[in-house]
Amino acid sequence: MEKKVTRIGVLTSGGDSPGMNAAIRAVVRTGIHYKLEVFGIMRGYQGLIDDDIFQMESKSVANIIQRGGTILKTARCKEFFEPEGRKKAYDNLKKSGIDGLVIIGGDGSFRGAVKFSQEFDIPCVGVAGTIDKDINGTDFTIGFDTAVNTAVEAIDKVRDTMEAHDRIFVIEVMGRDAGYIALHSGIATGAENILIPERKTNMENLVESLMEKEKRKKLVNLIVVAEGDDFGGANKVQGVLQEKMPNAEIRVCILGHIQRGGSPSCLDRLIASRMGYHAVESLVEGRHNVFVGIVNNKMHYMPLENAVKSKGKVSEEWLKIMKILAS
Ligand code: F6P
Repeated sequence: MEKKVTRIGVLTSGGDSPGMNAAIRAVVRTGIHYKLEVFGIMRGYQGLIDDDIFQMESKSVANIIQRGGTILKTARCKEFFEPEGRKKAYDNLKKSGIDGLVIIGGDGSFRGAVKFSQEFDIPCVGVAGTIDKDINGTDFTIGFDTAVNTAVEAIDKVRDTMEAHDRIFVIEVMGRDAGYIALHSGIATGAENILIPERKTNMENLVESLMEKEKRKKLVNLIVVAEGDDFGGANKVQGVLQEKMPNAEIRVCILGHIQRGGSPSCLDRLIASRMGYHAVESLVEGRHNVFVGIVNNKMHYMPLENAVKSKGKVSEEWLKIMKILAS
């Protein structure tokens, strides 16, 4: 029979995402509801290694649901990927008496949790928090909705100035391996071209279509490119286009970390609250080493190792819509 958890730790790891605070709040308050002691771990796995762990009360998470970032701070901790790092982390957990962990983060963070739970007897539950939405087994990840809305707001503004000057703009959005932010923000802003890592970018076709538009005096064109596109980011795309179209005015706008900050949207607050609550229930009910996702509006529990094995795929439907609407 599974050992009952009594003291749980919560950490945020990897790139922060708006809504992580709402998830921490849900974990702390649900844990207290179930009469567990809840501990916050600072800077993700780094705090486990450094023994930067403190007990949290209900009031520790007051007035944070609307705040971006993460009150527990975050890090991409290389040391945790070494056996010695994980041993130090385990020793510190034992010292604090923590017997269950909630990890709020993306696939890299889940990879760490898989290794840790295989080596040591500490049940882990993951909560999908990443703006990139690149985790298989959930329709939502915490922060994606806010990030896309931030991108849409910014792209709309760029379009205004682009139209005023008859320019071509190449706008780069985040997404190291995944094109969801580019796809969603591109469709929502009526971008003429969307370049994503999930589809091979055909630069020759793009140049050809822009040159043809130039001939028709259609001088305005918005290209949204994911930073992880196989051809390269916005600067590379702009460089090639400008060379082929020396008369066109082609500008670059890289949205960058703006997309990671800001107050979470209502949707992100809701899914973070729901996932945080169910993560604690999972630990209590003995559903261990899974990550909590939402599929078809129902909670979905997937083994942590499956979440990290395959990335989410952009649906054929969206790819088709993108192609038709952008022509
Ligand atoms: O968290 C995901 C992400 O925002 C990616 O889209 C991006 O490539 C990466 O993090 C940037 O990471 P960092 O802030 O460490 O440079």
